[in-house]
Amino acid sequence: MKTKIKNKIVVANWKMEPKTQDEALKIFNDTKKASKNLKNTKVVICPPNFYVNELKEGLGKSKKISFGVQDVFSEEEGAHTGEISIDMVKNLGVEYVIVGHSERRSLGEDDDTVSKKVNLVLNSKLNPILCVGEKERDEEGNFLLFILEQIKNSLQKVEKKHLKNLIIAYEPIWAIGKTAQDAMDSRGVHQMSLFIKKVLKDLFDEKIAEKTMILYGGSVELSNAEDLIKNGNIDGFLVGHESLDADKFCEILKIVDK
Ligand code: PGA
Repeated sequence: MKTKIKNKIVVANWKMEPKTQDEALKIFNDTKKASKNLKNTKVVICPPNFYVNELKEGLGKSKKISFGVQDVFSEEEGAHTGEISIDMVKNLGVEYVIVGHSERRSLGEDDDTVSKKVNLVLNSKLNPILCVGEKERDEEGNFLLFILEQIKNSLQKVEKKHLKNLIIAYEPIWAIGKTAQDAMDSRGVHQMSLFIKKVLKDLFDEKIAEKTMILYGGSVELSNAEDLIKNGNIDGFLVGHESLDADKFCEILKIVDK
């Protein structure tokens, strides 16, 4: 009997790049070309909101690529200068929303706010990519408690029936925005994915723990992607800087899809 290959997902977090729409289109078109041959891997591109419509027009019928946004505001409506609401996100036609990225948390976003956002996204039938990760490691293992609390608090009040859309991205802050050498190794990633599954099992049940996709993010580059995906016990990646280099990003997609 053929064993079923589990689908993978690779999220491109473009952050505040690139500087022009033309550059965005170029990266997107190159990524689109490579994604045509993917069999088991979904690509989620999270560009600055400003580029989404233009890129979506270029998507055509491709089912391999979906779009996401990098954040959403925690209130559904009201006077909130500069923010984007969940209705706007829905109307933009994206399917994924990154929530609780460490770069948002560093601006003051706490677990309660993250939990509001997760609920808004789940209640809208979109897919939240909930980011968790510790600032630093300590020998006593307090970072594990920190991750446990982050997950528990971020998922408070979530209705179990909505959880099928949840994705968790484990992104240790100390590994973000560096190089593959500074990233977590596959053994560490494997341990963390088991830990997160255990947390989900304790909070909800075994089925949810098994089904929730767990991604790793933090200096995923072409040189460490293969080891991480083969040995890290994860369902894909959240890729920052390397997703803006279309050639390298497309190679990562091929590796994940193997
Ligand atoms: P990085 O970013 O790949 O540049 O480390 C990942 C992220 O912050 O999501």
